[in-house]
Amino acid sequence: MNGGRNHNPNSNSSMTLTINGKDVTWTGEATASLADVIREGQDLTGTKIGCRTGECGACTVLLEGQPVVSCLVPVASAQGQAVETIEGLARHPEFRELEQAMQEYGGVQCGFCTPGVMMTTWAWLQNPALFGGDIGAALKNNLCRCTGYRGIIEAAEHVLASKGAVR
Ligand code: FES
Ligand code: FES
Repeated sequence: MNGGRNHNPNSNSSMTLTINGKDVTWTGEATASLADVIREGQDLTGTKIGCRTGECGACTVLLEGQPVVSCLVPVASAQGQAVETIEGLARHPEFRELEQAMQEYGGVQCGFCTPGVMMTTWAWLQNPALFGGDIGAALKNNLCRCTGYRGIIEAAEHVLASKGAVR
């Protein structure tokens, strides 16, 4: 609760957040969605927008390491925090392994859901226990109309097993 009765949501604000390890200053409406700031403000179009209502998960990014649907996150809520997008994951050597596994197990078909799915899967791989160990449960907010999830789940479990991780 910010109690900001006098706050004009249409007035411009300036704020700094970290996107993929880089400090970024955003000037615009504090209520702008993080998804729009990422895509239009930073030209990081790997993050997809489907429903804008929090239902599809296509816009999932990591905020302080946790998957969030960025269409529902006002940029002001991300001020001073670390955001990671699919482009940022490409910096991690282990990401290539996840990409390969997704291809190999048929976890990618039309590809629209894939960036969001990869963000959630990445967060799960970092700490499966946070999601009760279950990748299927972790992906409950990521809608995929094509794969039936089987390939995604098998790919995720393959990568986890290759890390020698215990759930
Ligand atoms: S676009 Fe954000 S959940 Fe669908
Ligand atoms: S691969 Fe098409 S929606 Fe998931």
